Amino acid sequence: QKHLLGIEPLHPTEITTILDVADSYVDLNRQAHKHSDALKGMTQINMFFENSTRTQSSFELAGKRLGADVMNMSMQASSIKKGETLIDTALTLNAMHPDLLVVRHPHSGAVDLLAEKVNCAVLNAGDGRHEHPTQALLDALTIRRAKGRLHRLSIAICGDIAHSRVARSNLILLGKMENRVRLVGPPTLIPAGMTELGCEVYEDMEEGLKDVDVVMMLRLQKERMDGGFIPSEREYFHRYGLDAAKLAHAKPDAIVMHPGPMNRGVEIDGTIADDINRSVIQEQVEMGVAVRMAAMDLLARNLRASKNSADQGIM
Ligand code: CP
Repeated sequence: QKHLLGIEPLHPTEITTILDVADSYVDLNRQAHKHSDALKGMTQINMFFENSTRTQSSFELAGKRLGADVMNMSMQASSIKKGETLIDTALTLNAMHPDLLVVRHPHSGAVDLLAEKVNCAVLNAGDGRHEHPTQALLDALTIRRAKGRLHRLSIAICGDIAHSRVARSNLILLGKMENRVRLVGPPTLIPAGMTELGCEVYEDMEEGLKDVDVVMMLRLQKERMDGGFIPSEREYFHRYGLDAAKLAHAKPDAIVMHPGPMNRGVEIDGTIADDINRSVIQEQVEMGVAVRMAAMDLLARNLRASKNSADQGIM
C-alpha cells in the first residue's frame, strides 16, 4: 500500500504483518534505548484539524523514535485561518518534500481527497465518521496480546456507533479477521444496515454483553450530534454505561476497552475503567505508539522500494 487511509483496503495478511511489526516495536519501546533508524532521513508532517491527545502525541513520538524529522503543523496558527483550503495547504506542504503526512480532519473523505493530490505517503489519523485505521489496529494488537489470538472471538462494541469512526474501522477489521461482532446501543445511535454487514445488533446491554470476550466502549460524541437527539447523561449511564453489574454478563475473563477520551460516569464507570484486572485502556495507549511506528515503517519501506524501482527504470 502507498497510503494508510482506512482498514477497508487492507487484506488480513497485511493486517497481521502490521501487528507483527508493531509487536517488535512494543519490545523496543520498553527498553531504555527506544530508538531505531527506520525513518532516518525522512520527514513526517502531522496536520491535525481536530483536537487530539493520544493520536497526535503517539504519531509524534513514533516518528521521533524511528529517527524521522517530525513537524507538527499548528492548524490554529496556519493560513487555514485566512481562508486557505485544505488542498492548497497540502500542496504547499507537499512542495517541501515530506515523506509522510499524518492527517486528522472533521470531514469524512477529506484525507482520501488529500492523498490524491500529494506525492508522499498519507496516514489517516481519523476523518469525520469514516475511518480511524490506526485506532482499529492498536485495538487489534491489544486484543491479540490479551487473548492470544485475533479470530473467533466474540466482541461487543457498545454505545454511540452512529458517530464513531473507531467503531467503523473496528467492525471492518474484526470482521476481516473472522470474529463475531455485536453492536450494542440505543437504536438512535446505531446506523441502519448493520446486520447486513454481518454484525448482531442489541438494544439491551445485558443481552448484548452475554458471554463476550471483549467489551469495547465508545465515547458519546455530542459534538457530532448536530441538532439530533442527545440522550440525557444520567439516563444513558443507567441503560448503557458499563458498570460491574452489566460487565458480569460478559465472560469472567472478558477485557474492557475504550479508545479515549472517556466520559467517566456517562459511558463507563470510573472504577471499571481503572480496574487493572479487566481494563486494558492504558495498554491501548501503549499499543498506539507501536502500531503507528509499524504503519510508518512499512509505508517507508514501500516508498523506498518504489523509489529504487523508479531509479532503476522498472516502474
Ligand atoms: N482515540 C483517539 O483518537 O484519541 P484522541 O482524540 O485523543 O487522539
